[in-house]
Formats: sequence, structure tokens, C-alpha cells
Amino acid sequence: MSELIRLVYASRAAFEPAPVQQGVEPSVGRILMQSRKNNTEANIGGVLYFGDGYFFQALEGDRVAVNRTYQRITADSRHSEVTILSLKTVPKRLFADWSMKYVPAEEAVRQFIRARGYQRFEPLKFQEEEAEALVALFQQQGDVGGQVQKTGFGPLWLRRLFG
Ligand SMILES: Cc1cc2nc3c(=O)[nH]c(=O)nc-3n(C[C@H](O)[C@H](O)[C@H](O)COP(=O)(O)O)c2cc1C
Repeated sequence: MSELIRLVYASRAAFEPAPVQQGVEPSVGRILMQSRKNNTEANIGGVLYFGDGYFFQALEGDRVAVNRTYQRITADSRHSEVTILSLKTVPKRLFADWSMKYVPAEEAVRQFIRARGYQRFEPLKFQEEEAEALVALFQQQGDVGGQVQKTGFGPLWLRRLFG
């Protein structure tokens, strides 16, 4: 039986966010589409957050599959300073139903960082415990596409991305 792991990392986005608009940043939307397709095939999953120019992502699944995906992710020029915050074996996946959950949780993150004495969202500085606490918080949050769109793209998703 292979080993189940959760890998949490943060990175700095290499692109300038598009002007503020409704819905998901287009570059992030493209990453999500790619992730959901590949992760479904690799039987891995997790959660992605993008805020203040940083990514924060948890990847869960078989150790070999997660490692393979993480290697690809580190080589991606759309971000830099890819830094592992937490890496552990786990009894089960927190995001078992998700190929890649996306949480637009700006307010929850603001509260989280304030409660921990940070002035702004700088996940590259997080301790392991902080990273795991944020992952747990994201498990409670709703996804942009709603609870029914866990692995694919429905009409709501497409409207938000391209509408
Ligand atoms: C912040 C970030 C998160 C990503 N997450 C994933 C992911 O969870 N799964 C995945 O397959 N690719 C992810 N990617 C994309 C990979 O870096 C890579 O571009 C992609 O896997 C290549 O897939 P393709 O060969 O199907 O084009 C991510 C990229 C970035 C910048």
C-alpha cells in the first residue's frame, strides 16, 4: 500500500494581477483548469489560494504522484521562491473530493494573519503549524464554483472565468 502525504508550499506569483474585476484572476483560472485535469488523472487533490501576489497550495495523495506533480510545479515560470512549508504523511485526505479546490477567502485570510500578528499575507514566512492551520481553515471555506463543481467546470465556473 502506498503512502498518503500532504505537501503544503507557498510561492511568489510572477505575473501582475489583472485589474480588479469580478471572479477569478485569469492566470489563476488557467492554472486551475490544468490542475484539475492533471490531478484527476493522477488521483491527487488539494486546495489553492492566491492573494497579495502569493500562492499557497496543499497537494494530497500518493507520495510518488504528489512528488511528481510538485516537481513540475516548481519548474513553472508563473511563480518563484517555491517553498515547502509542511510535508507529512496523513491518515486521510482533507480534500478527498477535490482535484483542486479554489478558495477566494480574502476576508478569512485577513482575519487569520491579523490574529497571528502579521501585517500582511506573507506565506513564505509561515511556520509549519501556521501552514497547517490555514489549510484547515480552507477546508471550511466554500469553493468559487460551489459545492457541486468539485472536479470539473460547470456553467457557473465558465461564466466566472470568461463571462
Ligand atoms: C501555483 C501553481 C499551482 C499549480 N498546481 C498544479 C497542480 O495542482 N497540478 C498540476 O498538474 N499542475 C499544476 N500547476 C501547473 C504545472 O506547473 C504545470 O504547468 C502543469 O502541470 C503542466 O501540465 P501539462 O503538461 O498538462 O500542460 C500549477 C502551477 C502553478 C504556478
